[in-house]
Amino acid sequence: GAARPRLTFLGTGYLGATYAICYAELGYEVLGFDVDEAKIAGLAAGVVPFHEPGLDELLRRNIAAGRLRFSTDYQEAAEFGDVHFICVGTPQRGDGMGADLTYVETAVVNLAQHLSRKALIVGKSTVPVGTAEWIEQLVGKHVAPELGVEVAWSPEFLQEGFAVEDVLRPNRIVVGVKSDWANGLLYSAHKGVFDLAATEDREVPLVITDFATAELVKVAANAFLATKISFINAMAEVCEVAGGDVTQLSRAIGYDPRIGNRFLQAGVGFGGGCLPKDIRAFQARAQELGAGEALRFLHEVDLINLRRRTRVLNLAADLLGRRSGPAGPDLSGARIAVLGATFKPNSDDIRDAPSLAVAGLLLKAGADVRVYDPEGMDNAKKASPDLTYEPTLNDAVRDADLVCVLTEWADFRNADPVALGDLVAGKKVIDGRNCLDPALWTQAGWTYRGMGRP
Ligand code: UDX
Repeated sequence: GAARPRLTFLGTGYLGATYAICYAELGYEVLGFDVDEAKIAGLAAGVVPFHEPGLDELLRRNIAAGRLRFSTDYQEAAEFGDVHFICVGTPQRGDGMGADLTYVETAVVNLAQHLSRKALIVGKSTVPVGTAEWIEQLVGKHVAPELGVEVAWSPEFLQEGFAVEDVLRPNRIVVGVKSDWANGLLYSAHKGVFDLAATEDREVPLVITDFATAELVKVAANAFLATKISFINAMAEVCEVAGGDVTQLSRAIGYDPRIGNRFLQAGVGFGGGCLPKDIRAFQARAQELGAGEALRFLHEVDLINLRRRTRVLNLAADLLGRRSGPAGPDLSGARIAVLGATFKPNSDDIRDAPSLAVAGLLLKAGADVRVYDPEGMDNAKKASPDLTYEPTLNDAVRDADLVCVLTEWADFRNADPVALGDLVAGKKVIDGRNCLDPALWTQAGWTYRGMGRP
């Protein structure tokens, strides 16, 4: 492969834009491609269309350095790149289970039709296993065989809020390849990452696999993380009936390095654009392949996760002294502050956010719900327009009968329970993320309820 191959990233959403910018920062010549004119115009003007710490500055610096440009022209992308990374979205299908590959197909076919020299097409989007083989067939149909265009797979493991670090300093690089040529070229395309690690006295492990394994690595990793969270939330359920404290339990088991303490925080469960969608698509794919039984536990992982949301609703009813009817608890007349709308702190992403789902449940039960979030208000208003939003934390809790902390923003963790106590109608708090200090809140006169705590 070339010493410094030129890279294109097709699809400049969260994944593609982050990669394009970071690989330019590593010294590569990069072109970001998208069909969305407005998105491309914005990026070219130095504006990142989502919230990710540090990315804006890198974008502007690399445009200025002449290493990074953007285009909506397939022809330009095809001519520019030695390696083309497919980073388009793979949304949940209409049936709510499998992944929709329409965008992948469009990107690959259009790129392929414009290729006029040997190049490598590398899948990065999260897809059902088998997609790389399918892309290879698509490429075969749309590119002259004598060009020798090849396909490879290289999954990503970005965590929102840490995406720049995760791309520049990944804990591993996985490549699924079929030829030495593809292997060598992909090595060159990642050499910037290995070189950076070497200057910092680190090593980034490289795992070279076949297509299927590379595709599975991504969904397996996400399934494992989701399982870890649901495991501790299942323990929370048991703690709730047995009178234990899941936060202590989590600490105690997490000291065993075979278990590890990360992704072991019980609370209102996982959300976001990846974990919930990926575990459902993974089950659907395993079913198609005849291995549905092997992933049946992921259905349980999903159910445990969703049960945490109803748990908050029932806790609220309990704290407010409300009876449950056949349609669930009646919270009419109760004013409830919901603190947090994003699926996790330091993000403006509200996709599949447990906080908004719980707010919806409380509203349906008749409560007067007031939502506040430091960064997610604009997105939340669009996604859940039926909820009432307040401009500040104080406005949200004013006259509330109950306060629910559902995303662990620092603003909420550090809030002063004494000052907040003066604003509310009733000093009752549900700590949906176990992120508050129960002693502090109790001393300030609050009735405190955590998740999986006595
Ligand atoms: C996740 C994976 O971490 C990442 O590797 C993958 O590439 C994409 O999906 P992300 O969606 O950014 O990343 O969110 P993450 O930080 O993993 O959190 C997911 C959800 O789990 C959040 O709602 C978070 O609040 C919740 N969570 C996380 C818990 O409830 N408990 C925990 O202990 C950890």
